Amino acid sequence: MFESLSKVKNPVLRSTVAASTALAIVTMISAVAIGAANPKNKSAYKSGVYVSLIATVLGGVLGLVVVDKSKQKTSVADTKTDNDIWKDWRNFVVDRKVKESKEITSFYLKPQDREHIPDFKPGQFLTIKLDIPEQPRPVIRTYSLSDSPNSGEYYRLSIKREGSPKGLDVPPGVASNFMHDRIKEGSIIPAKPPNGKFFLDLNKSLPAVLISNGVGITPMISMAKAASRLNKERHIWFLHGARNGEFHAFRDAVNAIAQENPNLHVHYSYSRPRSEDKDFYHSQGYVDKELLEQSVIPEIERIYGTTDAEYFLCGSPAFMDSIRTGLDELGVPKNRVFFESFSKGSKATAETKSDSNLDSAEIVFTESGKTLTWQKGDGTILEFAETNGINPPYSCRQGICLTCMCQINEGEVEYTEPPTGTPDDGSVLICISQPKTDKVVLEL
Ligand SMILES: Cc1cc2nc3c(=O)[nH]c(=O)nc-3n(C[C@H](O)[C@H](O)[C@H](O)COP(=O)(O)OP(=O)(O)OC[C@H]3O[C@@H](n4cnc5c(N)ncnc54)[C@H](O)[C@@H]3O)c2cc1C
Ligand code: FES
Repeated sequence: MFESLSKVKNPVLRSTVAASTALAIVTMISAVAIGAANPKNKSAYKSGVYVSLIATVLGGVLGLVVVDKSKQKTSVADTKTDNDIWKDWRNFVVDRKVKESKEITSFYLKPQDREHIPDFKPGQFLTIKLDIPEQPRPVIRTYSLSDSPNSGEYYRLSIKREGSPKGLDVPPGVASNFMHDRIKEGSIIPAKPPNGKFFLDLNKSLPAVLISNGVGITPMISMAKAASRLNKERHIWFLHGARNGEFHAFRDAVNAIAQENPNLHVHYSYSRPRSEDKDFYHSQGYVDKELLEQSVIPEIERIYGTTDAEYFLCGSPAFMDSIRTGLDELGVPKNRVFFESFSKGSKATAETKSDSNLDSAEIVFTESGKTLTWQKGDGTILEFAETNGINPPYSCRQGICLTCMCQINEGEVEYTEPPTGTPDDGSVLICISQPKTDKVVLEL
């Protein structure tokens, strides 16, 4: 009853509903009790009326005290994730599809079951599964959540259409083009709960510098929005690079947040501005070490009296490499720099994926207590585990993030492509590996 009551948003209506319910229940119980005990006793009727009135008043008060669920999440502490709400895939309906720039389109996803959706930390991502008719198996991809947490109603993904890399005769991006061309409002997309280790901790007060280019803006807008709502005292620098206004997603949205939050400092660099972009960017060129050195770091020092700050990077591999090198040269400690790679870059992507030389192998998953036979064609160990009801943690599924790292106790694996992240000694990345020996024992 409390659960249903808490869904009524208007407090007067909630109080009236609770009062009427209490009146009805107590009157019914009193009538049955009087009827069974002594129907001719007038004072018993009087007591029944008093008890019903008291219950009505208490019901009304209860209705006022019970809090509207949608208003419950207002503090920083409430933004913690609640991943146990669903474990595996959950169907979402595409509620809205909105074009954000020439290449980026947003998809607003609402749960098909219309139940509560958990919050996430700003910067985290969602993993989605697409049944693409031409593909032999479902295509799984991860996309950053591009809106602020606490909407409680939808998740937003903002996806760039990936074309074929220049000079390579290969098909364009499978999932992103499918999303742009064939996913419509009303389409159903299964998704796993929000996840990821790249997020802005809203309980911290250190200045934060969010640096992105291209579609790397997606986790940054979530961070900027969340900090502006829940951690307003914290100064945030939002540095973004785009080719020009045509390719610049969320410009108006970020400007609107900055209007409300004087502690959000925005800088846009356009590499090839058009004449009509004149009033919409701050510098021509790229977000680079010079910009940090000459304007951002001195400003941090002026406001905080120290240059200590956290840096969050997301963008093309070349861009992130250059910013990381720059920050290193500026003496920023590595533990203050956080980054998310969306892809490995054309050089690494172009390397052909290899398949295992084995036809089959026994894989022992010690923690799950399962011993299974993997066969050529079963895919990576991660895919094989998932097919068999084991759900290891993962995020990028590309050997970048180390989320799927798992200890190997016996045997060897081979990588289908060279890992970008370096796993610990005695551990392997199961998202991009297959068995190399007849028997593999994994602590999973
Ligand atoms: C944590 C995380 C968060 C992410 N967040 C976002 C986000 O918010 N928004 C977003 O748009 N993306 C995001 N991504 C990237 C996203 O997951 C996909 O990788 C991206 O959409 C490309 O997927 P695709 O299926 O369209 O392309 P794929 O089919 O995977 O192809 C990728 C590229 O490789 C090229 N290619 C195809 N075959 C070959 C070949 N043989 N040799 C060389 N190149 C080839 C394609 O033309 C394409 O350019 C994120 C990734 C990660 C890991
Ligand atoms: S899931 Fe990211 S490295 Fe395996």
